[in-house]
Amino acid sequence: MKGIILAGGSGSRLYPITRAVSKQLLPVYDKPMIYHPLSTLMLAGIRDILLITTPDDLLSFQQLLGDGRELGLCISYAEQPSPDGLAQAFVIGAEHVGDDPVALVLGDNIFHGPGFSALLHNSVAAVETGHDGCVLFGYAVKDPQRYGVGEADADGRLISIEEKPSHPRSNRAITGLYLYDNSVVEIARGLTPSARGELEITDVNKAYLTQDRARLINLGRGFAWLDTGTHESLLEASQYVQVLENRQGVRIACVEEVALRMGFIDADACYALGARQGKSGYGEYVMAVAKAAWEG
Ligand code: DAU
Repeated sequence: MKGIILAGGSGSRLYPITRAVSKQLLPVYDKPMIYHPLSTLMLAGIRDILLITTPDDLLSFQQLLGDGRELGLCISYAEQPSPDGLAQAFVIGAEHVGDDPVALVLGDNIFHGPGFSALLHNSVAAVETGHDGCVLFGYAVKDPQRYGVGEADADGRLISIEEKPSHPRSNRAITGLYLYDNSVVEIARGLTPSARGELEITDVNKAYLTQDRARLINLGRGFAWLDTGTHESLLEASQYVQVLENRQGVRIACVEEVALRMGFIDADACYALGARQGKSGYGEYVMAVAKAAWEG
């Protein structure tokens, strides 16, 4: 399965912070926000990743992540000149997707919770084997009207989906991680822009729903899907990461550690990546993870 990270948009709700810096490069406590969606794709076993961002921000992402080789990945880049909708990612990324299924993750979405790797693994397999055409992940929120909202039947099949409804039919927000079979490219190409002039991801999901090929998986109560859309929620996300990391002594979305645990790089390579950042606690952590792997 190929991966796409969509990290464009104007970030205007976070002005003035995002006037000169991409929202998805802002810190979430100890690391850039983009490490979270990147590690989500990596945990799903996805190594061939296209990062789509604005023409202004592309160079900054390249400086941070390069071609991904150091993490055992292949990262390429494309521009989205204006924020014309999430589904445009498949039009821009059609060549990257090729004949494969694809996972799209929004660059500002933070997922953390028990069993996430196994859930991703099984969901990717369900799409790759043709069992599901599309897999969405739902999360109970108190303000569903701010999101795409879905409903599933007892078997987990998606039975309704609406974008930012004023009267939501459920409290289940559709999170910014979407797994699709290859037909998503044709579906996206065939969309007409919505009233707000965007190619809507919800319209893509409606196409799969109409074919009865969409699954909605519920991320349960013990799971965190964090918002970064406002100054308050961005600070809260940082505090969440800080509390867990300081309590447990492990780091969330440490891409070097994920690369090592997924077998994308070996312990020597991991240590070298840590040493390069050795003056920070983050770098020390990466080196310690590599040392623990040496010691078995
Ligand atoms: O976060 C999940 C939600 O994301 C879903 O529940 C909604 O169904 C989906 O439409 C989307 O809603 P948002 O209101 O969060 O979309 P927003 O326009 O804020 O874009 C989400 C992120 O994607 C944001 O970081 C900016 C980026 N983006 C957005 C658009 C429209 C792009 O990179 N390109 C775009 O064209």
